[in-house]
Amino acid sequence: MKTAIIRKEHFNSAHRLNNPNWSEARNKEVFGKCNNPNFHGHNYDLEVKVVGEVNPDTGYVMDVKILKDLIKKNVLDKYDHKNLNLDVDDFKLVNPTAENIARVVYDNILNDLPEGLELTIRIYETERNFAEYPA
Ligand code: NI
Repeated sequence: MKTAIIRKEHFNSAHRLNNPNWSEARNKEVFGKCNNPNFHGHNYDLEVKVVGEVNPDTGYVMDVKILKDLIKKNVLDKYDHKNLNLDVDDFKLVNPTAENIARVVYDNILNDLPEGLELTIRIYETERNFAEYPA
C-alpha cells in the first residue's frame, strides 16, 4: 500500500545559462535571455515527493518535519537568495537549468533520506515550465 507525500517549497535564485565551450553567439542563440551575462532571477518552486509504505504505528510514510529539515539543509540554505553559478558549488561545472537543478537536488536529498523510500523532484522555473527527475 504505497502512498506519496509531497512537500512544496520556494526559493529565489539568480542564474545564467552558458556553455563555456561555445562561442558567445552560439550561447545567445541557444539560451536566449537566460544567457544574459549579468545574470537574472527566477522564483523557483520545488516539489519533493516521497513514496513508501505507510508505517502502521505512525500512519506516516515519513515524518514531514524531517523531510522539511532535509530540504532546508540541502536546498534552501544553499540556493535561496544566491547566485547559482557563482555562489553554489553544485553548479560550478553544471549549467543551472531546471533539469540539472532537479537532478542535483535529487542526489543531495536522496543521500539523507531514510532507506526504502522513492524520491521524485520537480523544479518549477516558471508557473508553466518545470522539470521532473527522475523521469
Ligand atoms: Ni533563466
